[in-house]
Amino acid sequence: MAALRVERCLPEGFLGASLRADALAGLSASPKSLPPKWLYDERGSELFEKITRLEEYYPTRAERSILQVVAGEVAAATRAVTLVELGAGAADKTRLLLDALRAAGTLAEFVPVDVSESALTDAARRLMGEYPGLAVTAVVSDFEEHLGLPESAGPRLVAFLGSTIGNLLPDQRANFLAGLRQRLRRGDWLLLGTDLVKEVPVLLAAYDDAAGVTAEFNKNVLAVLNNELGATFDPDDFDHVAWWNPEAEWIEMRLRSRLDQTVAVPRIGLSVSFAAAEEMRTEVSAKFREDRVRAELAAAGFAMRSWWTDQAGQFGLSLSVPD
Ligand code: SAH
Ligand code: AVI
Repeated sequence: MAALRVERCLPEGFLGASLRADALAGLSASPKSLPPKWLYDERGSELFEKITRLEEYYPTRAERSILQVVAGEVAAATRAVTLVELGAGAADKTRLLLDALRAAGTLAEFVPVDVSESALTDAARRLMGEYPGLAVTAVVSDFEEHLGLPESAGPRLVAFLGSTIGNLLPDQRANFLAGLRQRLRRGDWLLLGTDLVKEVPVLLAAYDDAAGVTAEFNKNVLAVLNNELGATFDPDDFDHVAWWNPEAEWIEMRLRSRLDQTVAVPRIGLSVSFAAAEEMRTEVSAKFREDRVRAELAAAGFAMRSWWTDQAGQFGLSLSVPD
């Protein structure tokens, strides 16, 4: 098997510096918060994969069921030579797109992009084994800040699946989409997965499963701060909270302190106090409506060409072109 090409787009020391900056800003703010991208060290990526297999976590199943129906249509419409996948993670559902593009006879290269190098290179190696002859270039990058894409042949299909776009705040989402639009050429395509607004109990169960896997995933961010910044968080001193914000139409994951406590974070020279029951936001997961997706895409310079949902209307997948 050919060696995997790995392109590292992040400047030297970027991840460490941005974790320190995010932790300093977020732990000093009131209310406290941390950006969700720090949930995904090696353990966090494994826990997310476990979440995708939970009964309560419907988004992965729903999006896969859409792809099973429409991947052929996507391949026929785009005739993509290069499939780029942002926030690829384990790139599991991606096989449906790779299969369809290969069957259409157009696919030459797969470019998974992720900030989590371990998850990225594991997935890229696995897919190289499964798709002999496919050129795979794994790009270690932060899609919000350093989305360098290799000079691949077009047309390119950029897939951003799983509703990971919902983990960005609205202004971050707008900046991300506008930045992506600038990097795309005419003839390229964007395939975007967006989880949809639905009954609150279904949403809450998906983010607070009975087996406690999501709680472990959420608390893993504390282990990241301990490992990377020498912090002294005890995950047992926090409870996992999933809360539906009805105005913003997003789920918030939070960590609630079980007691009054002070935690040292030596590598950023911080000593952080938590009051008993104080909550720190660790993720937002926005839930969308078709109109909002169309409008946000249009504001960034994309025209939506197709919109599909699963049979139960839980999840939306859209195919757009640069306008
Ligand atoms: N696409 C997969 C995985 C989703 S999990 C699916 O649909 O199941 C979200 C993935 O996005 C993780 O692998 C995480 O490491 C990655 N990610 C989160 N923030 C990122 C960022 N700012 N830049 C690049 N990757 C990011
Ligand atoms: C990756 N992302 C879209 C997931 C979500 O549903 O927002 C992350 C996740 N958080 C809790 N469970 C899963």
